[in-house]
Amino acid sequence: MSVDLLLGLQWGDEGKGKIVDVLTSKYDIIARFQGGPNAGHTLVFNGRKHVLHTIPSGIFHEDKINLVGNGVVIDPVIFKNELDKLKEVDVDYKKSMLISRKAHLILPTHRIIDAASEKAKGKKKIGSTLKGIGPTYMDKTGRNGIRVGDLESKNWLIKYRNLANKHQKMVNFYDVDIEYNLEELEKEFFSAIEVLKSLNFTDSEEYIFNAQRNSKSILAEGAQGSLLDIDFGTYPYVTSSNTTAAGACTGLGVAPNAIKKVYGIFKAYTTRVGSGPFPTELFDNDGETMGRVGKEFGATTGRSRRCGWLDLVALKYACQINGVTELMMMKADVLSGFKTIKVCTSYMYKGNEIEHFPYDIQNENVEPIYKEFRGWDEDLTKKESFEILPNTLKEYISFIEKELNIPISIVSVGPDREQTIFV
Ligand code: GDP
Ligand code: IMO
Ligand code: MG
Repeated sequence: MSVDLLLGLQWGDEGKGKIVDVLTSKYDIIARFQGGPNAGHTLVFNGRKHVLHTIPSGIFHEDKINLVGNGVVIDPVIFKNELDKLKEVDVDYKKSMLISRKAHLILPTHRIIDAASEKAKGKKKIGSTLKGIGPTYMDKTGRNGIRVGDLESKNWLIKYRNLANKHQKMVNFYDVDIEYNLEELEKEFFSAIEVLKSLNFTDSEEYIFNAQRNSKSILAEGAQGSLLDIDFGTYPYVTSSNTTAAGACTGLGVAPNAIKKVYGIFKAYTTRVGSGPFPTELFDNDGETMGRVGKEFGATTGRSRRCGWLDLVALKYACQINGVTELMMMKADVLSGFKTIKVCTSYMYKGNEIEHFPYDIQNENVEPIYKEFRGWDEDLTKKESFEILPNTLKEYISFIEKELNIPISIVSVGPDREQTIFV
């Protein structure tokens, strides 16, 4: 059976966690393929909010397998905290979770390097979540990393010590003031490693291959968003993994021709957290309203998210790179009450009007050109079917579908599992 993908099309936080949870009942296996605890995926059901960082968003459904793929980087300490939270709500994760032996581990010193590197960058900082993501992927591609499977061999501790020593020298190289107590950090790290070791490790690519052969259905859950992709995002203000469709192939061992549906998820407007260009960013009351009504604060760091209008130039680019077959529009409810809604349809780029996403979208190079739509006043949060949505919202949806030439299959009107309209 085939594999379906669910990917964020903007700068992350599109609502992936919510939709994976909604779609899980249709699948046997939910698999995360990249990123790590820089992600914060929020699920709301039965009046309760849950935030997941490394664990796939299918974990609250019984009888589903949740797999952490080889492309993911795992911080054992954050992972253990997530497990503790699951325990509180009686989730039997031991039975339902598998971890790839090839997934890399985030060490305490990776986090310290992340902090030192950001501090050394000063005003040019990436705005990293400081979870050690960049340094861990650097060690992976530099062929120095420690993998989950290493924990099964006795000499992994020697490898650990050598790497941690090298990292300390690297921190010194940055020549910035970073305070840390490695002994304390290691205590918590090694204790969390023991918890990790009590879970089921697997050769995940083999597991996924056999699952497909046995007609199991698989949903691959992306983290971050396409515009944070290491190759196609707004480099260098990106994360350190391939967040786009290709990342699912390398992050799970799925062959490209096994992929069927590609669900692309986007907010009805745009947000970004951290530094980097954002052509449609708003600094006025409209932006403030989106942030306040949409409760736009990072699920991982609590930072305010920058807000702006929907950028169709960027969205089209993300759809092309991912081969999106179905769109899902999130947070339509947040736009209720705006008299006018704007959508960026092209850029004025270095004096020319363009419709593609160019190499360098530094704000000084790009002026967004907008099309305006009439807004709607109605509260959408209790709407249960597409037919009863305001006509002006339907016009907005239909315009986006036509521009992208891809159907919108879900309109989300609130954070709760139930606040989901299937078109
Ligand atoms: P993810 O990283 O893509 O999983 O998204 P986050 O969980 O970081 O951010 C999405 C936020 O929006 C969370 O607080 C969700 O609970 C919330 N959310 C998701 N869908 C909707 C929606 O349709 N309307 C509103 N108002 N909130 C939503
Ligand atoms: P989810 O999965 C939004 C951003 C950071 C920073 C840049 C690099 O919840 O959508 P990193 O920690 O990876 O070195 O940070 O990427 N970023 C995210 N922004 N949602 C995320 O994940 C993000 N993960 C990383 O803010 O700008
Ligand atoms: Mg998030």
